[in-house]
Amino acid sequence: SNSNKVRIVEVGPRDGLQNEKKLVPTEIKVEFVNRLSKTGLTAIETTSFVSPKWVPQMSDANEVMAQITRVPGIYYSALTPNIKGLENAIAANVEEVAIFGAASETFSKKNINCSIDESLQRFEQVIKKANENGIRVRGYISCVLGCPYEGEVAPEAVADTAEKMYKMGCYEVSLADTIGVGTPGSMAKMLESVMKVVPPDKLAIHCHDTYGQALANIFCALQFGIRVVDCSVAGLGGCPFAKGATGNVATEDVLYMLDKSGYETGVDLAKMVDTGNYISNFLQRSNGSRVAVALSAN
Ligand code: HMG
Ligand code: MG
Repeated sequence: SNSNKVRIVEVGPRDGLQNEKKLVPTEIKVEFVNRLSKTGLTAIETTSFVSPKWVPQMSDANEVMAQITRVPGIYYSALTPNIKGLENAIAANVEEVAIFGAASETFSKKNINCSIDESLQRFEQVIKKANENGIRVRGYISCVLGCPYEGEVAPEAVADTAEKMYKMGCYEVSLADTIGVGTPGSMAKMLESVMKVVPPDKLAIHCHDTYGQALANIFCALQFGIRVVDCSVAGLGGCPFAKGATGNVATEDVLYMLDKSGYETGVDLAKMVDTGNYISNFLQRSNGSRVAVALSAN
């Protein structure tokens, strides 16, 4: 796309909190989502309908979905790895769900306890039932630029899974650098491969910032025509099943870069900074956004 409009998918309440060891009270999660709802965002990944044994922090998914104030025009999405998760999401009136697979076999096993092929079979069922219920489905692919267990991941492996997810009916496929090892060089190679089979307006990118490469990688993806960027306020986040993975790229940093580079997101940076400070204070963490720290110092 040549458009200057970029859609921001805020994943803080889900990816940002899932890795927190101490349980965050439901009312704080609800307040966090409600504050995010006032920033101009149109997509907030709110929680996960996953096994509470695997991810205890997301075990209040029902309560969170029931208690947030849903603002019309915002998609409050949730992760659903299987039919059971989808059924729970349907019962909670979720309008959008995300399935999540991987381009690496070992990561698939560690994260969702099945092979890539098995996961795709499950996802097909989830997509069918979701669509029957008027729910749209996003697809994630983890480890697109490297795996914590297998190291390098071939661009062709990413393209193969992306094509399958897209053909299965995902309205968008989010390409995730789970452990933040990618660079603009490896991002470009991977996107060249994926864009042979999925058009850029059906792709998003999801960059963790472990090696400080996320903004550069996102800028690279913009050059390829991608206009959907996943990020997490205050740079919260990480996957419990990816050793050493730190937070997502900070939403505030992405907003600053995009705004000063002539892109439009519709999201208010100052409100986002306040929201990032709110949740960082609660978690007693220093704010992981460089932009938030700079703006809060003035
Ligand atoms: P399993 O143990 O193979 O599942 O886990 P199972 O089907 O054998 O069931 C075992 C038990 O779990 C049963 O309960 C099921 O009812 C229950 P029991 O009889 O023992 O009491 N169960 C569920 N409960 C609630 N909700 C469900 C559900 N499914 C089964 N949906 C499973 C397989 C997929 C469930 C498990 O591995 C799991 O929950 N994994 C989730 C892992 C996760 O959430 N990871 C983090 C999110 S992904 C991520 O962060 C990456 C991303 O950000 C992109 C990136 O950066 O790379 C998206
Ligand atoms: Mg992630």
